[in-house]
Amino acid sequence: MLTIALSKGKMLNLTLDVFRRAGYTLDSLSTESRRLVFPCPKIGMTFLIVRPTDVPTYVEYGAADVGIVGKDVLMEQDSDVYEPLDLGFGACRIAVAALKGQASRDLLSSKIRVATKYPKITERYFNQHGVPVEIVKLYGSIELAPLVGLADRIVDLVETGNTLKAHHLVEVECIAQSTARLIVNRASLKLKHVVVTELIKKLRAVSRTPAGSRTSAPRKSSRGARRTVRRTRR
Ligand code: PRP
Repeated sequence: MLTIALSKGKMLNLTLDVFRRAGYTLDSLSTESRRLVFPCPKIGMTFLIVRPTDVPTYVEYGAADVGIVGKDVLMEQDSDVYEPLDLGFGACRIAVAALKGQASRDLLSSKIRVATKYPKITERYFNQHGVPVEIVKLYGSIELAPLVGLADRIVDLVETGNTLKAHHLVEVECIAQSTARLIVNRASLKLKHVVVTELIKKLRAVSRTPAGSRTSAPRKSSRGARRTVRRTRR
């Protein structure tokens, strides 16, 4: 039996769709239900529905063998898990944004205040660019912070860009791209090797992943991994 932690919220339906296209019957699993555990004995799997930021914890501690979570969460958390597959869906970017007309660094004092739910990614990024920052950790509605004077910049996920636009914000720089990833507990990869590799194979076959971002051998996730920082515009 494999236990699989799925991220609730925006990614859940997309994840279930990938499992169904891979041939897994998920009859008992409903996104409308308040249930958090869905045993699916016919396919030898139990699904746990958890907050995206908790998925790596369930997998790292072995409460789940496998998890599906955004790369943004993995970059922030440095969990000790394997990340063998980029599933390709849920594409968005982690970006720096500012109020229109205040995107120039010259308008700010030497230390800028940045609101985000990604304090580690933010700190790393601004440190790499030699910009002193004060980070304000928030848990949601990040776009509000510059409007009410809580921060000079935000670092947040951008998908369509509609939320930025609705709050008179413009994207200043792109820090990284993010898509859904399959992660695996280190012990499960050895002890349940056959079923885990079968799952990876089936999900890979139906994933729309850009060539080059697929890995055949499981590789370790964030902790100690090199990160790609892409700058779009200043
Ligand atoms: C995410 C993100 C942005 C929004 C971006 O928020 O934090 O606010 O989606 O999407 P867009 O570019 O398509 O407008 P989410 O809905 O997850 O809620 P949150 O603000 O509570 O984090």
